Amino acid sequence: MTIRPVRAGSAPPCAEDGAVTSPIKEPAHVATANDTASQHHEWWRDAVIYQVYPRSFADGDGDGVGDLAGVRQHLPYLAELGVDALWFSPWYASPQADAGYDVADYRRIDPMFGDLSEAGALIAEAHELGLRIVVDIVPNHVSDQHAWFREAREAGPGAEARDLFWFRPGRGTDGELPPNEWQSVFGGPAWTRTANPDGTPGEWYLHLFAPEQPDLNWNNPKVREEHESVLRFWFDLGADGVRIDSATMPAKDPELPDFDPASPPVPHPYIDRDDVHSIYRAWREVAAAYSPPRALIGEVWLADPVRFAHYLRPDEMHTAFNFDYLNSPWDPAALRSVIDATFDAHASVGAAPTWVLSNHDVTRHVTRYGRADSSYGHALRQHGTSTDLALGTRRARAALLLALALPGGHYIYQGEELGLWEVEDIPAERRQDPIFHRTGGTDIGRDGCRVPLPWSGQEPPFGFSPAGASAPPWLPQPADWADHTAEAQDGRADSMLGFYRTALAGRRAEQGLHNEEFTWLPSDDPGVLAFERGAGFVCVANLSAAPAALPADTEVVLASGPEVDVTARVLPPDTSVWLRRVRG
Ligand code: GLC
Repeated sequence: MTIRPVRAGSAPPCAEDGAVTSPIKEPAHVATANDTASQHHEWWRDAVIYQVYPRSFADGDGDGVGDLAGVRQHLPYLAELGVDALWFSPWYASPQADAGYDVADYRRIDPMFGDLSEAGALIAEAHELGLRIVVDIVPNHVSDQHAWFREAREAGPGAEARDLFWFRPGRGTDGELPPNEWQSVFGGPAWTRTANPDGTPGEWYLHLFAPEQPDLNWNNPKVREEHESVLRFWFDLGADGVRIDSATMPAKDPELPDFDPASPPVPHPYIDRDDVHSIYRAWREVAAAYSPPRALIGEVWLADPVRFAHYLRPDEMHTAFNFDYLNSPWDPAALRSVIDATFDAHASVGAAPTWVLSNHDVTRHVTRYGRADSSYGHALRQHGTSTDLALGTRRARAALLLALALPGGHYIYQGEELGLWEVEDIPAERRQDPIFHRTGGTDIGRDGCRVPLPWSGQEPPFGFSPAGASAPPWLPQPADWADHTAEAQDGRADSMLGFYRTALAGRRAEQGLHNEEFTWLPSDDPGVLAFERGAGFVCVANLSAAPAALPADTEVVLASGPEVDVTARVLPPDTSVWLRRVRG
């Protein structure tokens, strides 16, 4: 099968005259022979985007929490890694009840991370290095410390300020029962009761996540106006795009009906309702008014590929994370079917696919791929399951070459380039994730993938914080990370870091990877995924436990493991190769 997804024919209007221009300096190394103006314009179609989780990236001021100073120090590292853009998880003023996904003020940087002028400097420095910047926007909710919510809470029932949220009287004789039985994604009821101005028990408010994250009422035009203004604020500051948090959830059934979570109605009372799309259509107009247009990237967790694709229609988002790919086990048939379904869904709307292996919400893939069941599901994190990290690491290398060779955008979660695994032995009293606390530990939560990065040295904090830091890293690092620091891996071609650098440079340089051609190659071996891209570029991944044959008339460009036998044409288990066709 060859796919040639529709390109930008039906894309949104281009920038209007006089629109704000991005100061990005185009990196010389991006240009390739067939890098057309339109491809360049739509950089997100094949960009490699690195996720920075600011709390855990690098601590510049020694308080044990990462910050913008730390990121600025390591920008050259990110440029050298070879990524095209950086996505920052929220860095705004926040009480940090959900690690910044509880935003108190979008127009301020949390003092723990720095300030607005430092964010401006960071964006400018990143642009100088050819790195684009994506910031995180959280439309479903704000912090309970946001000025709007404080005002709404204090104003009391019936106040206009309460219409920005979902305040409702309780059920029962004295309103002592929540308005409905909806449950929070983080565990426990999705409602919290407030006190009236006179101190008596009052109305309840809806929070689909933690109580510190009240849901916004998107039927109120002020909510829409404010978010569009926030987008402009960051686009004006130079952000090249936004990542849209929990993008399927902002629209609610105003009746707030109860439902059986085991068989929810269609449409669902708060997931993927049709009216959510009007939000993103308006955002697309905001993004399209800039020159170059800014990118909208959605966090769209939906099992139905047709519904998923609705978010990527030509007048909505540009691209969205491919969680089906992330969730898939390390299994050739399962991955092939996700890849095919991805192409079909995206081609139907002319959008470019993405390929995602890890992020700040899921078990790191070195760990997942080292387990007997290598699939991922929030409901079953498989914490503490027997894990073969050597196998997981081997597969992670093979997975990188496979994913980087597919047409579309690619996401890297900080630390995967160092081969980090999920840290599973964080003591309960050090765990911070509200999921852990709200489920009483039944769900171990996400701290294990958020442990501060090891940069250098032999022991914690491994250069995460400067010498003489006043506090240890906010989550404990494993003592045995000394050989996983960036410093220990630097200059070693066989290290995970060396491999990432080589693979990313190879992807950039490879002509055949900068168009959207894709053809599966026939193979008699069910353990193998093999495909051809343009310009005679071939990728073969052996996902089985047995050796496979390398295709004839090809030479090896890059292999994920050292044992590929080019003479005997043998590809070992859990290994991928990039090949180039040669004349037979
Ligand atoms: C998204 C974020 C996650 C956050 C949640 C609530 O899923 O990725 O980290 O907790 O939304 O904002």
